[in-house]
Amino acid sequence: MSTFFQEQNPNEALNNHRLQLEYLLDNNIAEDDGKDIIEGLTQECKTISPRYFYDHEGSQLFEKICELPEYYPTRTEASILKKSGQEIAKITGKVEIVELGSGSATKTQLLLDAYQNLDYPLYYTPIDVSGGILQESANSLLTKYPTLKITGKVATYQQALSKLSYSALSQRICLFLGSTIGNFNPSECDRFIELITNSLSVGDYFLLGVDLQKSIPVLEAAYNDSQGITSAFNLNILQHLNWRFDGDFDLSLFEHHAIYNQSENQIEMYLICQSSHNVKLAALDLIIEFKEGEKILTEISRKFNLQEKSVYLASKGLKVNATYTDNKHWFGLLLCQKI
Ligand code: AVI
Repeated sequence: MSTFFQEQNPNEALNNHRLQLEYLLDNNIAEDDGKDIIEGLTQECKTISPRYFYDHEGSQLFEKICELPEYYPTRTEASILKKSGQEIAKITGKVEIVELGSGSATKTQLLLDAYQNLDYPLYYTPIDVSGGILQESANSLLTKYPTLKITGKVATYQQALSKLSYSALSQRICLFLGSTIGNFNPSECDRFIELITNSLSVGDYFLLGVDLQKSIPVLEAAYNDSQGITSAFNLNILQHLNWRFDGDFDLSLFEHHAIYNQSENQIEMYLICQSSHNVKLAALDLIIEFKEGEKILTEISRKFNLQEKSVYLASKGLKVNATYTDNKHWFGLLLCQKI
């Protein structure tokens, strides 16, 4: 996951014959800044949008989370891609690979290997809000894959997908890995899938990574790791608000708490206030009252059932061609095609 904030938008394309980077981020993000914070922190059940996790520190903490022994999703998804990448490539044939939230593109390499082994041309369009991370990962991919051509977009999903007019090959595969879809509530998920179906052409592919329902202790351990990295990641959201909105959150007055809500099939991450106090966010002209024991919901992470997800995608115009999972059925990949 890459940094959404604290980055300059150079608004210029960087070109050489194998790499083109287009910067599409505009000032709307800055203009909107804070409205969601005011809304979330003034309602009865307080919330902070998870997008505020990913400042520089938060992005680094997330990279560490992905390597934790308890956080199984990253390595499990990678193992599935390693095992099934070749089969996926054979099904899709020659396609341009588009990736939403490409970040360091570590798992993408498993697919690039598969397409390369079949002697297919390698065209990759990574989309990420961090130009720095895109540039860095593009450079290392170009070194590793001598025939690879990259057309990256520093953009939100919406901006980038609306600009996918020309494909280097006749078909595309769009990747959305890591079960990031689990961080969307059902209506956000519907809107996102609609964006995907509206952006792809008939016959294009969509590869979706989803974390699957499993035993509660395994799930809760993944979000309450023994090294306290997830706790630091959660608390850092307050530090980010302090920096961004001239706030005075005292991090020592909040505690990380993650539980599995079985009726909603989702992990819920909270920050729990340890003693009553007020917090000021001067840049938003906002004073927030906290009572002891009061919770702020910072993230949901939904866990899915592969069959139900297939039915859902099919109902949205994305026919599922194949599903892949690991031995323990902890994580799933759905290969869909727009009909
Ligand atoms: C980015 N996303 C898929 C992660 C998840 O598992 O929901 C974010 C995360 N939050 C705490 N640990 C990881």
